[in-house]
Amino acid sequence: MILVTGGAGYIGSHTCVELIEAGYDVLVLDNLSNSSRESIHRVEQLTGKSISFIEGDVRNGDILNVLFNTHPIDAVIHFAGLKSVGESCENPIFYYENNIECTLKLIQAMQDAGVKNLVFSSSATVYGDPQRLPLTEDMPLSATNPYGRSKLIIEDMLRDLPNADRLNQAAQPWSVTLLRYFNPVGAHKSGLIGEDPNGIPNNLMPFISQTAIGKRECLSVFGGDYDTVDGTGVRDYIHVVDLAKGHVKAVDKLLSENGIDGVQAFNLGTGHGLSVLELVNAFKDCNQVDVPYQISGRRPGDVAACYADVSRARDELGWQAELGVRDMVKDSWRWQSRNPEGYSDIMM
Ligand code: NAD
Ligand code: UFG
Repeated sequence: MILVTGGAGYIGSHTCVELIEAGYDVLVLDNLSNSSRESIHRVEQLTGKSISFIEGDVRNGDILNVLFNTHPIDAVIHFAGLKSVGESCENPIFYYENNIECTLKLIQAMQDAGVKNLVFSSSATVYGDPQRLPLTEDMPLSATNPYGRSKLIIEDMLRDLPNADRLNQAAQPWSVTLLRYFNPVGAHKSGLIGEDPNGIPNNLMPFISQTAIGKRECLSVFGGDYDTVDGTGVRDYIHVVDLAKGHVKAVDKLLSENGIDGVQAFNLGTGHGLSVLELVNAFKDCNQVDVPYQISGRRPGDVAACYADVSRARDELGWQAELGVRDMVKDSWRWQSRNPEGYSDIMM
């Protein structure tokens, strides 16, 4: 059984579908601070399987201990965390408190229970301002905002665990997989689950979809004077279903005979960069909808371009992205147009 913290969220819900389809039993712990119980119902509808769902906070060590004592948990995927860069700059204490304490409580409970297989949701943000592209996992790490720093601190904390295992000659050592996501977009092809941001979206794809459906008047393209193909920012967009499948491969590897030795990081992206305007134009063309936009000033903290070298994930996890930009924009639009208010209509 796999414990999925934050499993009601955007990436977590898609990963639950893929885990269940791969034959794993799933136990979700989520405090629903940025998600809805409805996403779990939809995953159940999609897979035809019921999910053990616990509404609770990962910072609550008592809940964790009960879960480890009452379920045959083999590995944990740890998605739970806060993820808005802007909000983290306004309220860094909140971000450090939530993201770091969740992980501390989780690894303590895992150690106590003797369950030492962990997949952690890291981010390409740990590469800071890229010195060289494409980004490989061994490049220098840095943080440019409190959200990114929380990911970096957690990665560092996790890197200390195998060192302690060696000193303590632990019979059962830690196996930790750090998955560094590039830019997750898209939704399940059923249109039943997708990204449901609170308030005005910070990220590009939900802003495009909400503009296309008329909830937002106009997309601001942040910067038209970068040294890129058309002057707009370039990112490595990855379909969330591909990303979810990457988690299944990571769990398969952790639980296999020749699992992960200590801590290992993997980039999950496509390896290809796409500019803001290329993504906007693909969305318009594939979905035959209009997306009014205007070029505005650069967003502070943005880098010109960021994309992954994905060879380590391909060679060592046997994973690579299969879905392209057409799938990303079509699936995002299907989710948005079928659920204009996200999950919230159902919650009323
Ligand atoms: P999300 O907000 O949709 O999902 C996170 C889930 O964690 C939510 O369901 C939320 O309710 C839950 N949660 C938060 N704090 C909790 C706590 N203390 N206890 C229990 N549950 C808690 O976000 P997502 O996009 O699915 O991201 C999942 C993970 O991936 C996060 O750790 C995020 O930082 C990381 N990540 C996301 C992106 C991205 O662009 N979406 C990129 C890189 C990394
Ligand atoms: N952009 C716009 N207009 C918008 C929103 C974004 O032009 O309204 C542009 C940005 O300037 C950037 C690109 O679209 O060039 C992508 O921006 P996002 O905000 O969607 O994504 P980021 O690359 O800034 O960051 C995302 C997550 C971070 C994560 C990072 C790497 O938000 O949490 O990917 O994984 F760390």
